[in-house]
Amino acid sequence: MNHLAARKVAFITGASGGIGKAVAEHFILQNYFVHGIDMTEQSSQFSVDDYSHHKIDITDFKILTSIFDKDIFSTSENVLVNCAGIREICSISELSLVLWEKIFAVNVTATFVAAKAFCEKLVEKNLHGAVVNIASVSGLMGEPNRTAYVSSKHAVIGLTKQLSIEYGKSGIRVNTIAPGVIRTPLTEQYYHDEDQMKKIDSGQFIKHRGMPSDVAKATFFLASSQASFMTGSTLVVDGGWTAGKNL
Ligand SMILES: NC(=O)c1ccc[n+]([C@@H]2O[C@H](COP(=O)([O-])OP(=O)(O)OC[C@H]3O[C@@H](n4cnc5c(N)ncnc54)[C@H](O)[C@@H]3O)[C@@H](O)[C@H]2O)c1
Repeated sequence: MNHLAARKVAFITGASGGIGKAVAEHFILQNYFVHGIDMTEQSSQFSVDDYSHHKIDITDFKILTSIFDKDIFSTSENVLVNCAGIREICSISELSLVLWEKIFAVNVTATFVAAKAFCEKLVEKNLHGAVVNIASVSGLMGEPNRTAYVSSKHAVIGLTKQLSIEYGKSGIRVNTIAPGVIRTPLTEQYYHDEDQMKKIDSGQFIKHRGMPSDVAKATFFLASSQASFMTGSTLVVDGGWTAGKNL
């Protein structure tokens, strides 16, 4: 189907995951047509009028790039949300080079490949757009047993700044979200561990526990004209997790 039309379009990687699904729902509610990109099946019953699912492994960079070669952009507004991500929980001595490279391939290289293909297409067609990369508070500080994840999320924040510089002159804004702990399949195990939850609750400075919709709302804000003077920035959505230490 050719969607090169006035309806706004959002491309969302990791669209079947906890945060990606909430982002897709939010953009559909705001009348965007969403292209969900994920290695697993579509996880929500969206209407075909609102959503198209691309079941691919984003580390197959050729296939990822080919999505942006199709005539599916909008003449009004285009958004790319790089949300797919993976992480390890293991000591540095157990962290293999294979796992390190896998985490960087998904979190960093695929973000670069998708953002470059998306932005180049906007430049070529003289279209409007914005990119939001989902990093993490792990891109702002270290954490035990997550060496590759922490390093990759710092790289996403650096990549965002670089993309904002390279594509700013073409009118494309690129920003990052740094979520704190958000309840999704990635973190579900924390919620069944009382000690872990005590640490999380005492590390935040408000009582609210982070939900995917908190990240979806912030993502939509950064992509929208409400954030028209923001580019290269990192918006922290973490209930105060990085604001200070609980002594
Ligand atoms: N949940 C949190 O607390 C939290 C906090 C900070 C940042 N984040 C970041 O938010 C993003 C989304 O996390 P989430 O919590 O929704 O995780 P999730 O595990 O629920 O979802 C991740 C999605 O990415 C997809 N994915 C992974 N590798 C892929 C690949 N190679 N190709 C295609 N799809 C792939 C998965 O299939 C899954 O649907 C990630 O980048 C994560 O690092 C999450």
